[in-house]
Amino acid sequence: MKIFLDSANLNELREAVSWGAIDGVTTNPSLVAKEGREFFPLLKEICQTVNGPVSMETVSRDAAGMVEEGRTFAKLHPNIVVKCPLTKEGLKATRQLTSEKIRVNVTLCFSATQALLAAKAGAYFVSPFVGRLDDISHDGMALIGDIKTIYGNYGFSTQVLVASVRHPLHVLEAARLGADIATMPFSVLEALVKHPLTDLGLDRFLKDWEKLPPEAKTWQSNSRTTAAARPRAQKTSRTNR
Ligand code: E4P
Repeated sequence: MKIFLDSANLNELREAVSWGAIDGVTTNPSLVAKEGREFFPLLKEICQTVNGPVSMETVSRDAAGMVEEGRTFAKLHPNIVVKCPLTKEGLKATRQLTSEKIRVNVTLCFSATQALLAAKAGAYFVSPFVGRLDDISHDGMALIGDIKTIYGNYGFSTQVLVASVRHPLHVLEAARLGADIATMPFSVLEALVKHPLTDLGLDRFLKDWEKLPPEAKTWQSNSRTTAAARPRAQKTSRTNR
């Protein structure tokens, strides 16, 4: 399963990229507005930061507007995937953009029948929002199972992108169900890394290591000497520039 970061924050994206953890990005108007920056330069920087699909959402309500925005986004970078909402106008725009070989992520999907229509319109991704369904006492993950079954029955190639992920169990269940992608906020990605037994185990290993007499750790003292010497060398060359 691929992992996308649901964020327009460049610091979060850079950090996740440095872990080798993410395959793409999803954004939405709320996430972009949170950054308070000029939209196009931000979008460009996101595309330069993450080497994978970057979903950008249209903000028109009519198909013609969505198509126009989608064409403009697509020209900006080859990694762009245009997000259109799961409305009649959104489906029209999806069909048109897809016919122009522009990839579309059909977003705000809350039912399996909506997902069926997204696939028929040619969506590249469909984004079912599991957390927002859970919020109103519906089983978000059950929807993922239904969509996977329906797409499997008829061989649709639309990829299921699990969205509105709120906690690690959503990610675990998405992977169990064979979802293609899960997109998550940085806080959830961080939670996937953490385990108390990892921290405890590391503390214990390092405490035991300290019990070894210094003369038995010559490798470590050598590498420390080399590492300590390195910043001084860098400093000298920087002042020389
Ligand atoms: C996905 O593309 C959406 O941006 C996102 O997952 C929505 O999540 P939320 O329900 O936490 O806002």
